[in-house]
Amino acid sequence: MHENKYGTFAAAVQCHCREPCRRSGLRRKWHWKRAGRTIRNVATQRAREQGPMAKITYIEHGGKEHVVEVANGLTVMEGARDNGIPGIEADCGGACACSTCHVYVAPDWVEKLPAKDGMEEDMLDFAFSPDPLRSRLTCQLKVTDALDGLVVQMPEKQI
Ligand code: FES
Repeated sequence: MHENKYGTFAAAVQCHCREPCRRSGLRRKWHWKRAGRTIRNVATQRAREQGPMAKITYIEHGGKEHVVEVANGLTVMEGARDNGIPGIEADCGGACACSTCHVYVAPDWVEKLPAKDGMEEDMLDFAFSPDPLRSRLTCQLKVTDALDGLVVQMPEKQI
């Protein structure tokens, strides 16, 4: 059994990702198999209990907008995942090891976000059609009051 902030998991199992995991070198990526409650429910419920939410707008590549409230403490990726927003796959679950949570940040938000660290910069090299200024990995963007009103757009595809 394994426990992390998302809940309790029974075992690591092989997923059905088609490409090899770049970071681990494993032929396929490994994910935690859930035991009992879902990852989504536990993370969202815990974050909601903790307090305020930020309004974030996710725009699909085709232009469809999703405006959702995301609890402080979650990441922008978790906000998309918990609200079933398509276009952010997050294969590694937020470990900054897959780049499938890539988005383009609205131009007026580029300067307002915390700077990228080295690991995010490295992983963005593997993203589909990265933009040196606007590309970010949503799993590395922690939601705070400062992100209220953030607008992100998903790329045409993830990798
Ligand atoms: S979820 Fe894998 S890099 Fe963000």
